[in-house]
Amino acid sequence: MTVLVLYATVEGQTRKIAEHAAAQLESLGQGVVLADIREPGFAIPGRFDGVLLCAPIHIGRYPDSVVQFLIDWKAALADVPTAFVSVTLAICSKDADDRAEAEGLPAKLEKKTGFHMNRVHHAAGALKFLEYDFFKRMLMRQIAASEGGPVDTSRDHEFTDWDALDRFIGEFADDVALAARA
Ligand SMILES: Cc1cc2nc3c(=O)[nH]c(=O)nc-3n(C[C@H](O)[C@H](O)[C@H](O)COP(=O)(O)O)c2cc1C
Repeated sequence: MTVLVLYATVEGQTRKIAEHAAAQLESLGQGVVLADIREPGFAIPGRFDGVLLCAPIHIGRYPDSVVQFLIDWKAALADVPTAFVSVTLAICSKDADDRAEAEGLPAKLEKKTGFHMNRVHHAAGALKFLEYDFFKRMLMRQIAASEGGPVDTSRDHEFTDWDALDRFIGEFADDVALAARA
């Protein structure tokens, strides 16, 4: 069995999440092909036993490459177990409305693309203050402050719950194994 793990990223946290998920799938006995969604190469989704897609939110939107991929490949994707990891910061906000908004983002993506993911996981991302340029650093500091998050810009802050991600990947691996047996 081989699973295709695709990711989109701007600052690298979603790639780290996809790499972690790929390693976890391998440890559960799955073969894995890991690729940037902008350069999937030979990877045709329908040829795999399952597809995991990891995508971050920037200014309320998933990358266009993710939207386009789902529109282009939804027919092939419908034939295999699929899972989606939505990477946001709002999901760990102290504000319940912000968290609810983050929780609603995959449904909006579904509406936009017409594709329904079998499973969705919400992963908190990272504040990469050391990698942002001056303006992005100030913007993200302001947003973090308004959400009760960290404002120390002298270092990065990672919020991803790796154990929760592993549990989700375990459930997805079960879906893939079950579908392969059917
Ligand atoms: C310019 C910018 C805008 C962002 N906008 C949002 C947002 O609207 N909602 C949210 O929950 N997180 C937002 N984030 C947080 C990102 O989702 C988070 O930093 C994530 O780890 C980014 O993933 P990446 O490193 O793979 O690009 C934003 C981050 C940046 C830098």
